[in-house]
Amino acid sequence: MINFKEEIAKVIGEYVPSLSMEEIQSLIEIPQDSKMGDYAFPCFKLAKELKKAPPLIAGELAENIKENGLFSKVEAVNAYLNMFLNSDEVAKDTLAEVLEKGFNYGKSQMGENKPVIVEYSSPNIAKPFHIGHIRSTVIGNSLYKIYDALGYDVIRINHLGDYGTQFGKMICAYRHWGNKEDVENEPIKTLLSYYTKFHVEVEDHPELEEEAREIFAKLEQSSPEEVQLWQWFRDESLKEFSRVYDMLGIEFDSYNGESFYSDKMPKVEQELRDKGLLKESQGAEVVDLEEEGLGVALIKKSDGSSLYITRDLSAAVYRKETYDFYKNIYVVASQQILHFQQLFKILELMGKDWASSCVHVPFGLVRLQEGAMSTRHGRVVFLEDVLKGAVEKTKEIILEKNPNAENVDEIADMVGIGAVIFNELSNNRIKDYTFSWEQVLNFDGETGPYVQYTHARLCSLLKKAGEEAATKALNPENIDFSHLSGETATELIKLIYAYPEVVQQAGEKYEPSLITRHIIDIAQTFNKFYHDEHIVVDDEGEKLAKLALVHATRICLRNGLDLLGVKAPERM
Ligand code: ARG
Repeated sequence: MINFKEEIAKVIGEYVPSLSMEEIQSLIEIPQDSKMGDYAFPCFKLAKELKKAPPLIAGELAENIKENGLFSKVEAVNAYLNMFLNSDEVAKDTLAEVLEKGFNYGKSQMGENKPVIVEYSSPNIAKPFHIGHIRSTVIGNSLYKIYDALGYDVIRINHLGDYGTQFGKMICAYRHWGNKEDVENEPIKTLLSYYTKFHVEVEDHPELEEEAREIFAKLEQSSPEEVQLWQWFRDESLKEFSRVYDMLGIEFDSYNGESFYSDKMPKVEQELRDKGLLKESQGAEVVDLEEEGLGVALIKKSDGSSLYITRDLSAAVYRKETYDFYKNIYVVASQQILHFQQLFKILELMGKDWASSCVHVPFGLVRLQEGAMSTRHGRVVFLEDVLKGAVEKTKEIILEKNPNAENVDEIADMVGIGAVIFNELSNNRIKDYTFSWEQVLNFDGETGPYVQYTHARLCSLLKKAGEEAATKALNPENIDFSHLSGETATELIKLIYAYPEVVQQAGEKYEPSLITRHIIDIAQTFNKFYHDEHIVVDDEGEKLAKLALVHATRICLRNGLDLLGVKAPERM
């Protein structure tokens, strides 16, 4: 496919040899208002280089660029150069590429032989996998898919919160008030109730706190009884988490969580000590980051127990040794920004030159209408219930629209769960948002069901056209692209053209919502086209050209949905 930005940059590069191709490309803009062209180039920077007035440069460049024939119009407006693509050229070039690549359209090899770790989900054992956790799970899974599509070797890690003093409390509570059968029947709800009870009881019985601390110390020393209970809690919890992962269609390559690093911490602590980074402070050991404006990081408590950040230090070192990552991505809530700043800074101070390849990808809070969620106060919505609810409600909506719909359960599964995932990925990830059913399942809004519905409409159009025509339309040689020069068709084709770059940007910015927004745009633009024009028309040439566009749109929507982790049913 022609890379228009590159073509523009080549011409400009000849004009100003002192700027690099990358520099020039990064200056090329895509105007918000298409009346200003498909691409625009501000000449201010060149004015500095060349010591010439910007409008003069714009005028001279316009003449040079006109020569390559890729643009139907090139104009200089003050300091700006506005370029309008030649729609026939774009249509031919784009559709031929999409039809040829099919479900590989948007993929690339740029990440070949580069291992990338995406750490996501990472729930805490014996605590509910609530709607707040869905963000990490769904954003992380999408980033995995995006990096995979860009050709990177992705390793998916679930850094389970399966270690820490809370296990002392949990075991303590279980011994006082626990019951084996209850745990087996409903592990997480039961274990959570023990944890909540511990916090209530400890108010009147402060000695419980000490008891729990001792239990945790035994666990750290691998005392068999404690380890066995902990292992059992972990197994039961994982069974429950796996149910949710199955519903979401999500997998991991490793479940090495915090406990995995318990025997690897002394090594890192020693290294910190040897490098003179550990300081004593009231019996505890800390790394002082005050000078960096990052406070003090507690590495080892006065009772000798390790901390969350100590395990993260070991985990990072282990990951580098094991995977030799090119990037190590942590998809974790924005409340932990300071934690990751400290973590990466300590790695840097330890002299790990790869510290700069570690990235924290934070995201905002999910609120329920009644307020933020809190495990301690029992105000949680279980993700499993949310997903089941979405599937049920979707089923009702489908049956209401079409009482004779076939395979309702299967489709309701894909649409209901897809709706929840899509909703998660609709907004810029850093924004807080409030979960609302009306928003999630609205078939006409900017939602998953809307995009899926458009995809199903595209599939049914191809069916309606008949196999012969649909197959013929897959071969660009059969297509007269001049039938696609209408305004809406052109707009749609440009969106399809831009799709691979959007995927790349979503990867660079760790922002799946760029893809979500883009496929909503594609779906809306297609529906406008569908509304304005007949597709399966009598004129064979026109029909084939429009069907080629239908194919390409369908491919793009399906590929985009796939990168979000959402299925694309062919019928709805
Ligand atoms: N288990 C933690 C939580 O639920 C998230 C873990 C994040 N990952 C990490 N490497 N620290 O808050």
